[in-house]
Amino acid sequence: VETDLSGYPHYMLKEIFDQPEAIRNAMRGRLDLEEATAKLGGLNMNPQQLLRIQRIVIVGCGTARHAGIVGEYLIESLAHLPVEVDYASEFRYRNAPLDGETVVFAVSQSGETADTLAAVRESKRKGMRVLGICNQVGSTIARETEGGVYMHAGPEIGVAATKSFTSQVLVFLLLAVLLGRLRYLSARQGKKLLEAIEKLPEQVASVLARHEEVRAIAEKYAHADGMLFLGRQFQYGIALEGALKMKEITYIRAEGHPAAELKHGVIALIDERMPSVFLCPQDGVYDKNLSNIAEVKARRGPVIAIASEGDDRIGELADDVFFVPQCSELLAPILTVLPLQLLAYYTAVGLGRDVDKPRNLAKSVTVE
Ligand code: G6P
Repeated sequence: VETDLSGYPHYMLKEIFDQPEAIRNAMRGRLDLEEATAKLGGLNMNPQQLLRIQRIVIVGCGTARHAGIVGEYLIESLAHLPVEVDYASEFRYRNAPLDGETVVFAVSQSGETADTLAAVRESKRKGMRVLGICNQVGSTIARETEGGVYMHAGPEIGVAATKSFTSQVLVFLLLAVLLGRLRYLSARQGKKLLEAIEKLPEQVASVLARHEEVRAIAEKYAHADGMLFLGRQFQYGIALEGALKMKEITYIRAEGHPAAELKHGVIALIDERMPSVFLCPQDGVYDKNLSNIAEVKARRGPVIAIASEGDDRIGELADDVFFVPQCSELLAPILTVLPLQLLAYYTAVGLGRDVDKPRNLAKSVTVE
């Protein structure tokens, strides 16, 4: 079995370093370069059925919901389909309008989360087609859905989800390519994306190889009063996930927000003891992010930037920068989340926290 520590001090660190292999497994056999599309046979839907989808609802809890938020932007961008992401716990008690052209995706690493399962059952009761994005083969959600996509991330033991997140985002990327190719995405664009996706495992490995850089940043900010994580568009879900990782295992108060929301309240928290982590790779909102960073700096807030290699402007604004390889903005979330996982990990270790078993949390919440 794959469940030994393989020499790592914690499961979480092992699972962070499992990511090149985990996402390779998630894409194995699913990239169809010839047809410039993704193959997701487990959905049990033919092209005609996939084409009839008019709307997608994604439900999940914690990290799984954050992957769904990244998925929302990906599907919207590549397939022009309306997507709604909700907390499974909220969705199950809503009277959400659904119709025959809506498909519900339940995202869950364990496939056993009580609220997510309840959302699956409620959607089925309403006659919806429900599909799963799960890691645990044969889990309850995998069994109770009509089909879906397994992430194949391998067992995840650390309570803080890491490799399951990047695998979920990868699955959404494949789904967005598949739905896109049936609609607006040209063969040329599809192929370009698939070729970029193929390069991801190596790029992930190259980022992880620079873990010592993140450790140094973690040491510098370990005694902060709190931490803000700010990102926009494809990076918004990553901001939420970065904050969740930080609070789960370090108990530092951390909030994730869309960067532009700063001025609507969050900016009141900024002072020299409240660092902000900005997700600002080269993408469509890069310049907007720079203005947001300037607003934080003007209030003496320390800034840690996650930026693209070759960015020669960011160094003048940010106090610390971690660079990730240049890539399409659609793929960047899989790279930018890595330094945030490591930042939470090294901060927690520095503070002497129980990384794999943080207080008050469970790996899988099977009661309501
Ligand atoms: C718990 C875990 C989280 C996880 C969430 C959803 O809260 O601590 O790490 O993201 O459950 O779990 P699932 O298995 O449904 O993805």
